[in-house]
Amino acid sequence: MSAQGKQKRLTTANIRAMKGGERVVCLTAYTTPIARLLDPHCDLLLVGDSLGMVLYGMETTVGVTLDMMIGHGKAVMRGVSHACVIVDLPFGSYQESKEQAFRNAVRIMQETGCDGVKLEGGEEMAETIAFLATRGVPVFGHVGLMPQLVNTSGGFRSLGHTDKEAGKIRSDAIAVAEAGAFAVVIEGTVEPLAREISGSVSIPTIGIGASPACDGQVLVSDDMLGLFNDFKPRFVKRFADLSPLVSQAAESYAKEVRTGLFPSDEHTFKARR
Ligand code: KIV
Repeated sequence: MSAQGKQKRLTTANIRAMKGGERVVCLTAYTTPIARLLDPHCDLLLVGDSLGMVLYGMETTVGVTLDMMIGHGKAVMRGVSHACVIVDLPFGSYQESKEQAFRNAVRIMQETGCDGVKLEGGEEMAETIAFLATRGVPVFGHVGLMPQLVNTSGGFRSLGHTDKEAGKIRSDAIAVAEAGAFAVVIEGTVEPLAREISGSVSIPTIGIGASPACDGQVLVSDDMLGLFNDFKPRFVKRFADLSPLVSQAAESYAKEVRTGLFPSDEHTFKARR
């Protein structure tokens, strides 16, 4: 396609401008064919480090590497023509210093062609977010339940039950917004915390297990498609149930191969003589 004929994808500035307007539709994507299918329906596609659990069978996201994120980021970019694409900075690739965060964020953006990066953390990451945002790296924040901290935070559980916990998440979201993030994920918090935060920060809040009052929602695609069954958090709604379809297709194929029905004439090449 010529440069002129190329469709313009949404930018992080477009997403930022959706605050208080139309809700932001966000899903995760890790591969080209899935990105192609989701792209027309989404404003934002997130190459989340959840891919470690969903695609690689890891128990947490801690083992995900920068090279894995870059590989999947490139794959997703090959499948999009509409949505803004953000790639997660994985555990250990940004917490050491703002310089390390900048170096790795630039690597992700240059090697994948994505629009920005997401990182987990609130007040403690504000300086890093400001460093990146003022140097050309759009940052998607992530507060509340932060899966990369699973080994120090006591596991995957909803947060904001006590005033202290709620206060910390509130100040984290404000710090991320004030540092210059273009939007922020709020994950796994009890009502009405995310509702209150959404009403008080100037950037779009994207909820996952947080509140319908957020400015947008994100789900792990494999969860909402019914393809990832290792566990199903309460907030996940299945919009399809694809696992049984995959099993049935594999069973039918196995039956045909074993009984010699596949491949039939229809599915073989004949020599032209
Ligand atoms: O890694 C991921 O997919 C995420 C979303 C669930 C927000 O961080």
